[in-house]
Amino acid sequence: MPAILNVEDARRLARRRLPRGLFEYLDRGTENEVSLAANRAGLDAIHLAPFSLVDVSQRRQDTTLFGTAQPCPLVIAPTAVAGLMGYDGEVEMARAAKAHGIPFCVSTQSMTAIERIAEGSGARLWFQLYVWKNRARTFALLDRAMGAGAETLVLTVDTAVSPKREYNQRNRFGIPLKPSVRAGIDVLAHPRWFMGVFARSLLAGGMPTYAHYPQDFRTPLGRLAVGEEVSLATDVSWHDVEALRRHWRGRLILKGILRASDAVKAIEHGVDGIVVSNHGARNLDCAPHPAHVLPGIVAAAGRRLTILADSGVRRGSDVAKYLALGADGVLVGRAPLYGLAAGGQAGAVRMLEILRAELDTTMALLGLTRIDQLPETLEPAARM
Ligand code: GLV
Repeated sequence: MPAILNVEDARRLARRRLPRGLFEYLDRGTENEVSLAANRAGLDAIHLAPFSLVDVSQRRQDTTLFGTAQPCPLVIAPTAVAGLMGYDGEVEMARAAKAHGIPFCVSTQSMTAIERIAEGSGARLWFQLYVWKNRARTFALLDRAMGAGAETLVLTVDTAVSPKREYNQRNRFGIPLKPSVRAGIDVLAHPRWFMGVFARSLLAGGMPTYAHYPQDFRTPLGRLAVGEEVSLATDVSWHDVEALRRHWRGRLILKGILRASDAVKAIEHGVDGIVVSNHGARNLDCAPHPAHVLPGIVAAAGRRLTILADSGVRRGSDVAKYLALGADGVLVGRAPLYGLAAGGQAGAVRMLEILRAELDTTMALLGLTRIDQLPETLEPAARM
């Protein structure tokens, strides 16, 4: 992949390779996509001021997240249907994470079961949870995740209902995949994806669908029976956090926190970490950009829990900015997915390499040798 020099190059290639319905699902935001543009603008508006004449010949970006050392401050974010972006996509993403020594967060809405991802990758796995209406089924899923070795549970707290993504409706994109003339034309126009991903998946395991959903979910009749039980609960509250805290023996993270008061509540509920995130601008179109609220959250939470951030990362300097604002680590979702769509596991590995190399260059140009020095470079106006 010599032509891929940055995340945007991979994005362009992903756009060519993937059917439009799938690419737009991966790439776009919600409603008017105001927050998508705001995420970029929010990161672009942050400036880091370099220290001059510092010996930067020895630079390191290793860190410790939740008591485990890792070579860089990245985590692969949970993303639904990653398994369709490339053949065996979730296993390939987990292998890419393993190659970089970072965790891979398996999604509830993954096309591959966590047991197979664990076996196929040997990666450190986290598990992202969407709470289903049927809590007993939800807890049974957690037990599976725990049994497969997931060390950390990531509860998504910013998706009380399905967001309004009109492009998905226009493209007739949804899981289970539904045949339509438009989708058929779209797929046939992308023969490389059709043969290399879809037909190959079909031959290997049947029609791709959500692997963590009950077996019945795979048939139209079964879906009628269990569809309601495994639809996303709209009454998820701090009581669920209490219940999860009692049930889950590993680390517990809340993903999608955008208020200092909620970070404090998370601490009071014994939560180990939060992800300050607007879900990659995919849910609430008037949500603030994480960079705007992160300093306030860091000030309120202090060092009492681990603070991660995500949304809008396209460059290593974006990672540097979140760290400068006080995040301990950064999740990346779309970037490795573009890489996966463009070039399978090697493409995802390449995206992580590029982000790490760009972070390294940013640090050197800022006159830093360690990532914990990044907050010192934040221009005073951006500090709380
Ligand atoms: C799922 O979490 C999505 O953002 O589509």
